[in-house]
Amino acid sequence: MNRERFALQARRLCKTHGAGSALVRAVDEVSLDMPAGQALAIMGPSGCGKSTLLHLLGGLERATAGALWLGGKRIDGLGERALARMRRRSVSFVFQAFHLMEELSAVQNVELPALLAGASPWAARRRADQLLDRVGLAKRARHLPSAMSGGERQRVAVARALVNEPLVLLADEPTGNLDSAATRTLLRLFEELRTAGQTLVIVTHDERIAALADRLITMRDGAFVDDLRMPAAPVGRRAGLLNLGG
Ligand SMILES: Nc1ncnc2c1ncn2[C@@H]1O[C@H](COP(=O)(O)OP(=O)(O)OP(=O)(O)O)[C@@H](O)[C@H]1O
Ligand SMILES: [Mg+2]
Repeated sequence: MNRERFALQARRLCKTHGAGSALVRAVDEVSLDMPAGQALAIMGPSGCGKSTLLHLLGGLERATAGALWLGGKRIDGLGERALARMRRRSVSFVFQAFHLMEELSAVQNVELPALLAGASPWAARRRADQLLDRVGLAKRARHLPSAMSGGERQRVAVARALVNEPLVLLADEPTGNLDSAATRTLLRLFEELRTAGQTLVIVTHDERIAALADRLITMRDGAFVDDLRMPAAPVGRRAGLLNLGG
């Protein structure tokens, strides 16, 4: 099998908690083939295992069993340091609760992962400024998160998640804390990312977010119960947002 063309592949991934009568199968034998450039939405009732699956796919948590490939490389057997390196290089998370550094300005938040990855201060700042511009926050770059709205903070979090050009962007209910106007802005941003060919996995309760995906998976009790492919997206859509140059 040509694994390279898949951004993510999982085979019979399991994650259990506890033991005996208290055993919980948070993720129960999930298999997934996700081509690069696909935007996948995952929905399902509370407690069905969506966050757990997202954490497994991004290497934040380790599976109890099963195999996982990221960008064609098998990662389930990696040691802690190699896994952390792989994660830094290939995946980014956007969480429901933003998780910005409160004492850093927007642009400092966005450039931080680039600096940690070894970019020069100049290059990191340039790219952070470009990304903030792309998410419509050029004028807020020097603000602290406490001086920004929820929607603005989440856009900073998305810009930060993009700064190292991740192979896969994983988002866990990114609009869960937003009012409807802010949700609409985020919707536009995710639509732009999808159009730009960013590989996306978005866990959401919001049908509007799900509607912009290429594929919609429904989970129940740790397993996939429905897998819906949306009509094919236009060819040659990789352009724009992520093509920042330099
Ligand atoms: N550390 C843990 N110990 C025991 N059970 C856990 C642990 N973490 C998660 N679970 C259980 O695993 C299941 C899946 O949890 P998960 O957080 O992935 O659900 P979810 O689909 O993201 O729910 P929500 O929509 O409420 O965020 C739940 O039944 C949860 O109680
Ligand atoms: Mg969750």
